[in-house]
Amino acid sequence: MVQHVPIFSVLALSLESAGTMFAYAPDLAKARHGAAKLKALFDRKPEIDSWSQDGTKAQSIEGHVEFRDVHFRYPTRPTQPVPRGLNLQVKPKQYVAFVGASGCGKSTAIILLERFYDPLVGGIFVDGTEISSFNVNDYRSHLALVNQEPTLYRGTIRENILLGTDRDNIAEEEIVRCCKDANIYDFIISLPSGMDTLIGSKGCMLLGGQKQRVAIARALLRRPKVLLLDEATSALDSECEKAVQEALNAAARGCTKIAVAHRLSTIKNADMIYVFHQGRVVESGTHDGLMEMKSAYFELANLQSSSKAQ
Ligand SMILES: Nc1ncnc2c1ncn2[C@@H]1O[C@H](COP(=O)(O)OP(=O)(O)O)[C@@H](O)[C@H]1O
Ligand SMILES: [Mg+2]
Repeated sequence: MVQHVPIFSVLALSLESAGTMFAYAPDLAKARHGAAKLKALFDRKPEIDSWSQDGTKAQSIEGHVEFRDVHFRYPTRPTQPVPRGLNLQVKPKQYVAFVGASGCGKSTAIILLERFYDPLVGGIFVDGTEISSFNVNDYRSHLALVNQEPTLYRGTIRENILLGTDRDNIAEEEIVRCCKDANIYDFIISLPSGMDTLIGSKGCMLLGGQKQRVAIARALLRRPKVLLLDEATSALDSECEKAVQEALNAAARGCTKIAVAHRLSTIKNADMIYVFHQGRVVESGTHDGLMEMKSAYFELANLQSSSKAQ
């Protein structure tokens, strides 16, 4: 027997479905908006394309670095120009430190030197060539950065160290030498599996100072011409810091070294210290010279020693 569905039931059902549709309408609009945003993101051509084949490939670089009247603003913070009129020079194999209050543009200077952004005004020159005319990937292969939070991955110590280089056939002795220079070799061989020890997700099996030294070994294996250290030791306690500092001093031989330092005690032996203030260099010299000037650096040093005494 055919069941007749009363017309009002059909109507009620249709209205309900329509109601559900309308309830989803705002979400649909949001989804469409989201999809459009994603498409725009995927369609966007990065200003600095890491995969670009353009630009000259430097066979080797000396490691002379110069910032000439560099002005920059982050795209997300267009009102705040940092650096603004940054001028400084680093000679090949020199050990240079950037110091200054938080937010004065030290890390941004390092980021610009790595060419993650281009300056708005002025230029950055390496061996006298503006860095934008180098092939970006090749140029970056001459630099190595160790920052406050080294990026380690699940895997063995060896894998984590090798990750820093694209060179093939690296001899075991070279890995060992980099680990010795990074002051981590004795620790590695004290582990039951040595270099093949698994360090867990993000290197969680290692302590802060150990992670930092693995990151330094990785940086050294790249044989950088310019080694960049952005507060590489500032999160460590002073015992750890000393070990890492010794590693860095060993590493500094043979390459230009630029260190952003929070604790001034760690950069006392730098060849040149640049004191930053609001995106500019306001003072430069050696530790002793700057202390004698009794100005910005002297104040920073006093501020740190009084906060330590508290
Ligand atoms: N990725 C970013 N996007 C937007 N603004 C940033 C970014 N990184 C830093 N800044 C801002 O740029 C200024 C300089 O920061 P930074 O170079 O990190 O200073 P420093 O390393 O001397 O503490 C600060 O005002 C900071 O808030
Ligand atoms: Mg910083």
